[in-house]
Order: sequence, then structure tokens, then C-alpha cells
Amino acid sequence: MDTRVTVVGNRPSYLNQIIFEMRDRKVQQDRMRFRRNLSRTGQILAYEISKELEYESRTVTTPLGELDMHLPEAQPVIVSILRAGLPFHQGFLELFDEADNGFIAAYRHITKGNEFEIRIEYQAMPEITNRTMILVDPMIATGKSLVMCHRQLLERGRPERIFVAGVVASEEGLEYVLRNIPNARIFVGSVDRELTAKSYIVPGLGDAGDLAFGPK
Ligand code: URA
Repeated sequence: MDTRVTVVGNRPSYLNQIIFEMRDRKVQQDRMRFRRNLSRTGQILAYEISKELEYESRTVTTPLGELDMHLPEAQPVIVSILRAGLPFHQGFLELFDEADNGFIAAYRHITKGNEFEIRIEYQAMPEITNRTMILVDPMIATGKSLVMCHRQLLERGRPERIFVAGVVASEEGLEYVLRNIPNARIFVGSVDRELTAKSYIVPGLGDAGDLAFGPK
């Protein structure tokens, strides 16, 4: 695996229980549990990413004395692609509680030949120049919506560091993201083998947006 990619679930941890539940066709029918599990995965990946950030020394004063600790130099900007990204994003905010946030709406526009292209409809973004940006997208299938969002964002500014986070990625999607966002570090829960003709990840977990919020 490319050194820019960390597959957190490769090292057995409680994250695997959470991803198992999201994949399981029976357990995933419980929408509240599915959303909570997306959020819990976001929290775990946020913690893993936090190990890569810059820290500075600060002195804390307790009721009994003082101690030097290493605290994050700055909060990141967390950027999500609507809609499945919302509970995953919330998990990142549990950890990075003072982060700035950006939202992008992208959708699959079906063309005449039953192919699709990604279209971007809406964005609400804070300043990203010289900051650490975490692009969060639960399902990195083709990677095309992520790369397209990244291109749009570069028109607004240049982040100093870019992280990409996903619950499940396809091998093809990861390669596409690495090729098109070469300075990104990628953290995912799991990497799956295949994509269907409609670009769903196999075995994946299905449509994360529908499972979290109901069918469109
Ligand atoms: N989006 C999903 O929700 N699931 C996939 O498998 C691919 C994209």
C-alpha cells in the first residue's frame, strides 16, 4: 500500500466492530445506529489524523500545580460532501470541537448513455489558505467527487496540508485520489476490491446516504 494511505482497520481494533455493523445488511437497517456508527468512525479517524498534526507546548495550571503539555497549534478545516457525509462529519467535530467547517453539495448527474458525471451545486467554505484541511467522504468509490471538490476548493485558496478521510474506499478510488491530489494523506477504515458498473463499492455497505437518511 502507498505510504500516503493509512488503512486504520487493518490493525484489528474496535473500529472493525463498528464497520462490521455498518456493513451487515440486518444491523444497517437501524438508521439511528447507522448514523451513530458513521459518527463513531469519524471520531476514531479524527483521532488517528490528530497524531499527524503540529503541536506546541502550553502550560496548564491545575489546582495542585503546573505542567507543560503539547496541544494542537491550530484547528483544522473539515470539509464534507453532502449528504452521507453529515454524520461522519459530526464525528470529526466531536474531536476537533473548534474546527471551521465547509460543505459542498455534489451529485451524480445521469447522462444520456446511462453514464454519470459529478456536478457541484452548492458550497459554503471558510478560509482554507495555509490551513490544514480534512476532506471527509464516507464512501470513496471512484474518488471523482472528492477530486472535483478539491479542484473547486483550490480556486478559493491553498491549504498547507490536506487529509482525506473515508469509511470504506475502493482500490480504484484510492488510486484516483492519490493520482489527482498527490499531496494528500488518506485515512480510511477499510479498502474493498471492486466497484459495480454503477460505481458502488463491493462488498462495501450499500448506499450510505440512503441508509443514514432514507431513500431519495
Ligand atoms: N456511495 C455510497 O454510498 N456507496 C457506495 O458504494 C458508493 C458510493
